[in-house]
Amino acid sequence: MITSTHAIARARVGARGLVASLALLACGDSGGGTSDASTTTTGETAPATDATTSAGSSSSTSEGDATTSETTGAPAFECDFQGVDFDAGVPDLLSDMCLVRWTEQGFELADNVYPYELNTVLFSDYALKQRAIYIPPGATAEYRDNEVLELPVGSIILKSFIFPADLRAPELAQDLIETRVLVRFPEEWKAYPYIWDHELGDALLTVQGEIRPIEFIGLDGEPKLSTYLIPQKNQCQECHEIKDENDETVITPIGPRPRYLNRDADFGDGPVNQLQRYADAGWLTGVPPIAGIPKAWDHRALADTPVADMSYAEVTTAARDYLDINCAYCHNPRGVNGISSQLFLNWDNEDVFHLGFCKKPGSAGKGGENRDYDIVPGDAEASILIYRTETLDLGSMMPLIGRSLAHEDGSALLRAWIDGLPPDDCGAPDPMP
Ligand code: HEC
Ligand code: HEC
Repeated sequence: MITSTHAIARARVGARGLVASLALLACGDSGGGTSDASTTTTGETAPATDATTSAGSSSSTSEGDATTSETTGAPAFECDFQGVDFDAGVPDLLSDMCLVRWTEQGFELADNVYPYELNTVLFSDYALKQRAIYIPPGATAEYRDNEVLELPVGSIILKSFIFPADLRAPELAQDLIETRVLVRFPEEWKAYPYIWDHELGDALLTVQGEIRPIEFIGLDGEPKLSTYLIPQKNQCQECHEIKDENDETVITPIGPRPRYLNRDADFGDGPVNQLQRYADAGWLTGVPPIAGIPKAWDHRALADTPVADMSYAEVTTAARDYLDINCAYCHNPRGVNGISSQLFLNWDNEDVFHLGFCKKPGSAGKGGENRDYDIVPGDAEASILIYRTETLDLGSMMPLIGRSLAHEDGSALLRAWIDGLPPDDCGAPDPMP
């Protein structure tokens, strides 16, 4: 049980900071924080939408407005978090965990809550995301090569989904939709969905989920409509479940692996490598020299270099990491939902057949409209993998859940990768002489 009191001084992740790098985005989200210094509140932070009133600041348990944060001069919230009660479960109101608060300046995070960004991110209909890890005071996490960090019992990971009214001005008119929470219980991880209620200024634990139409203006200036899925509680496992070493089905975090965390991020105190930051903060042990840690492809590169101008080597790395974070949580040898396909899209899979090369779909899914193979090297258009990544047809689209729109930059990347592979007609019969 966690007993420490959790009094709060703020680390701020401004709404502006959260989205300032959206223009750099390609993989559909900002990856959380920002790449510039605007995470500190300098007064230029964009106002929240009508939907995102500042009611967060009057949330029932977090009246601390008299105090100010030492670093930013911004109002702080006071809270007394005793850790999750493993018998009672998580509270109905997100504010009762005292970890995060949404104000017109954006997110405020409590002590011991560390925002993080990922090099490559999951596409969710262009939603922006803010991610953060809470480590119980005094506890430590263990670094693991190529695996999710071993986080201590009592840890909590939060991921919040935000839609700006116009992706071209992502700092304006933001609508915060949901905060997803993973909690490390003594035996296992458990997943909880919270949906924001802006009248209340809080997010409510809501097991039944919701489908919500969300309109916004895309990067191309055209209106878009997402039929956005707020997953129900038992849909979390469709993506987060794997078989562990003992062949037990367990829920696991997906993103916080060294290769995705290994990047500089600026949360108001200057750009610092995230793994170094955690090691310095004293809660991540066993971090090897940063220079030797592998790095997943950094999606921010697309801001300067569109896919068409990337070297093929970079396209390959980028496409493999895109598949890894967007698909491989189902499509990997330890995956649960997706194993039937025997298609393994994890970045370190070197078996080209299981990667889909000239592989006929084994699974019963609706397939790819007259296409025969998951990947036809050299021919993206003929590849089922491309078709299923781009289609909006419900029986065929990949991922099966979690998107209602196609991701243009993502498919451009995958197309460039497949088109650039040494051509193979997969043993098609010779054309008639
Ligand atoms: C469509 C698949 C999918 C569904 C459904 C899904 N997640 Fe995730 N989730 C992911 C992926 C992929 C990541 C990591 C990549 C990222 O953060 O961009 C992630 C990240 C997270 C994180 C941050 C820590 C981590 O694992 O990387 C939390 C917390 C989280 N999800 C909670 C939930 C909860 C709670 C639900 C159910 C309400 C849920 N997720 C449903 C795919 C999914
Ligand atoms: C939530 C789990 C999940 C995610 C995420 C997911 N898939 Fe799938 N995928 C499945 C399942 C289950 C099947 C088998 C049933 C079917 O074919 O519809 C499948 C089948 C496929 C097939 C047919 C493969 C075969 O050989 O049978 C392709 C191609 C595919 N997925 C591509 C992708 C791509 C590309 C992504 C990422 C953009 C992705 N999937 C993400 C669950 C998932």
